[in-house]
Amino acid sequence: MSSNKMWGGRFETGPADIMREITPSIDFDKRLASEDLAGSRAHCRMLAAEGIISKDDGQAILGGLDEIEKEIAEGRFTFKRELEDIHLNIEARLAELIGPAAGRLHTARSRNDQVVTDFRLWVRAACDRADAGLMALQRALYAQAEKHLDTIMPGFTHMQVAQPVTFAHHMMAYVEMFGRDRGRFEDARKRLNESPLGSAALAGTSFPIDRDTTALALNFARPMRNSMDAISARDFALEYLAACSICAVHLSRLAGELVQWSTPAFGFVKLSDAFTTGSSIMPQKRNPDAAELIRGKTGRVLGDFVALATVVKGLVLTYGTDLQEDKERVFDAADTLELCLAAMAAMIADLTAQPEAMRAAAQPGYPTATDLADWVVRVLKKPFREAHHIAGSIVKRAETLGVTLDKLPLAEMQAIDPDITQDVFDVLSLEASVNSRMSLGGTAPGRVREHMAYWKERLA
Ligand code: ARG
Repeated sequence: MSSNKMWGGRFETGPADIMREITPSIDFDKRLASEDLAGSRAHCRMLAAEGIISKDDGQAILGGLDEIEKEIAEGRFTFKRELEDIHLNIEARLAELIGPAAGRLHTARSRNDQVVTDFRLWVRAACDRADAGLMALQRALYAQAEKHLDTIMPGFTHMQVAQPVTFAHHMMAYVEMFGRDRGRFEDARKRLNESPLGSAALAGTSFPIDRDTTALALNFARPMRNSMDAISARDFALEYLAACSICAVHLSRLAGELVQWSTPAFGFVKLSDAFTTGSSIMPQKRNPDAAELIRGKTGRVLGDFVALATVVKGLVLTYGTDLQEDKERVFDAADTLELCLAAMAAMIADLTAQPEAMRAAAQPGYPTATDLADWVVRVLKKPFREAHHIAGSIVKRAETLGVTLDKLPLAEMQAIDPDITQDVFDVLSLEASVNSRMSLGGTAPGRVREHMAYWKERLA
């Protein structure tokens, strides 16, 4: 193989065969094609405006880039591994189309600022897609909440029945979590939205370029202030991957609940046929595959973050080809997260809650024992610790007799504390418990309705 025509001036022979395997990134960085074209257009217009290249050459280059865009869109563009990456593929094709003027496009530019400009643009769009995916999921959760403000289910701590809550309250808890995930993508987007273009190889350029103009043309808020930082920094990609990771962890928790809730032992929700699969041997099975896959794919996304952090951690400033490893991790995380968000939103929209099963599961385990203790504090004016003890003894008695608290005869309670009156039964039902939890953020339907009103505007 002869030496590379892009940079082969000082080379006598071509690269070793194995270099053709290890060097190319075109197989994956062709996904940066439209960002690369956008960056080149902005750079070219600026070069022409500043008189660094002639207007005619500028026009020829822009025309060629349009043609390339068309070829790519129509699947007529041949990506060549021997041209390494998207930048050299496009530049080589430009030369074929318009001749020597193509060689002027790379004035005052390096692949180092070019690739990171492309990549910032790509990650910025990925942040926007994550936001849209998260919002769709929030809407699906909200819609379930709307149907189940009064649906009582057990609230768990330590996976033990703790206190009754509503299904709406549970769904809205995830609306909050995914809302913070959106905030993380929004923050990441804001910080990454600065232009590295014009930093050239690492030190800037001797040409009189105008970085404000190219930044503006690409919708960046401003040019980055230090060319070495601009070339080296990948924290924008790490931050995006960190946001993906946390979001994937949240998806995994929700997926885990769906897996559990859809078992016959719980029966809290019914996933539709569309989101379950059968077993090849056991005819009765309905497996929650989509939920399990969402839970399982969390591993990939966390792995993507760790992989890129590991690549970046040992690197001196500025560019090292190690950084070429950044893109596949980000693409994989983005593809995975977007898929999982869409699948989760569809699954949530499609599930049918089973209020009877939820209620039945909320009954055993004495979930209103706290209500009993609170009543002793409020009405009998006893200290909470003493009330806790009394309620505990009553629970023990109820357990021995095999009844729920609201079915325990008053006399049995009075045997433990003679001051207890008939009024106590007002607080022992599941409904009474839920309705009483009126504190800010609590599970009482009035409060949850208030919480939902807050989100209604934001999800509109
Ligand atoms: N394909 C390279 C990457 O993905 C582009 C930048 C190459 N720059 C260089 N000096 N070799 O990072």
